Amino acid sequence: MSTLDSRDRTRMSVEAIYEDLKAKLGDISPDFELRVKAELACEINQLKVQRNAVILGHNYMEPALFHSVPDFVGDSLDLSRKAALTDRDVIVFCGVKFMAETAKILNPTRTVLIPSLKAGCSLAESITAADVRALKKRFPGVPVVTYVNTYADVKAESDICCTSGNAVAVVESLGTDTVIFLPDEYLAGNIARQTGKHIIFPSRLPSGKIAADTTVDYQMIGWHGRCEVHERFTVDDIRRVRAQYPDVIILAHPECSPEVTAASDFSGSTNAMIRYVEQTKAPHYLLLTECSMGDNVAAANPDKEMLRLCTVRCPHMNQITLEMTRDALLHMQYVTEVPEKIRVRAYRAVERMLKIG
Ligand code: 13P
Ligand code: SF4
Repeated sequence: MSTLDSRDRTRMSVEAIYEDLKAKLGDISPDFELRVKAELACEINQLKVQRNAVILGHNYMEPALFHSVPDFVGDSLDLSRKAALTDRDVIVFCGVKFMAETAKILNPTRTVLIPSLKAGCSLAESITAADVRALKKRFPGVPVVTYVNTYADVKAESDICCTSGNAVAVVESLGTDTVIFLPDEYLAGNIARQTGKHIIFPSRLPSGKIAADTTVDYQMIGWHGRCEVHERFTVDDIRRVRAQYPDVIILAHPECSPEVTAASDFSGSTNAMIRYVEQTKAPHYLLLTECSMGDNVAAANPDKEMLRLCTVRCPHMNQITLEMTRDALLHMQYVTEVPEKIRVRAYRAVERMLKIG
């Protein structure tokens, strides 16, 4: 899914943006707030032209931002491709730090800005480059697949990256019996089930070395990283929603536990979930993912009834606001850099993934 292209947006007046936001978000936001947001969006769209910038917005951006300023919205895979291809001088990444880093890895001559330095990710924090080196030492010769939700130095230690949109294809592309799949424990569990692999989770000893029981048969070696948002959904949530809405279709992101994805009707990346809602007709849908996306999907599909479990908002994605996006363009902040030695190695892993399609 992509928004209007930036030339169309930059010609829009505050009034036109306000009317557009009101049509999409009038049910969830009061008029005065939408007016303030329309003014900010108009300012951002003008600054974007002055800076020759492109704005990329992840599907988890708050609804007013999502529907007003990005040139492109999408999932991690989609936005990596857009970042790689843009010829604009500046890329503003309305997402989290690992996404901005991936944009810099792929398109190093552009200036990449992230509107907040606090936009991290619990998965990216869960593993270090030293951990990956210790795993490679413990399991020599086994290829390392790393989720893009990691920092550049971790990507640099990997053979290939993946996103939730292509993880099965990436694992199968290796053609090996065994893979190291990092760092999301639940994504790994879901991919192991889909590819028929048996998974183990070795532990890190206080020395930094990796312990694992080699007497156990395994084909996939995982890590105990988790998304602090998706780990909160439970099978009991699903049971209770189905009790009240027997005809609900439940879609779960693969960062949810394997038990939760098994109890759902569909599991896929944020883009795959959006496509599923667009292409089907059910009385109710429930998305088990970051809660802003439910509002964004509801606004884009007014004929569909979306249920919400909206206590779950990613605190990192939540850092990115229209005000901070305006300030990013105004002050050219915060510039994302990746040391060239790391970038070159990380590039190989990301580029190899992009070639898989
Ligand atoms: P995708 O958009 O790639 O499905 O990823 C979801 C996510 O949690 C990113 O942080
Ligand atoms: Fe990271 Fe989870 Fe937030 Fe995505 S939703 S940025 S995986 S903490």
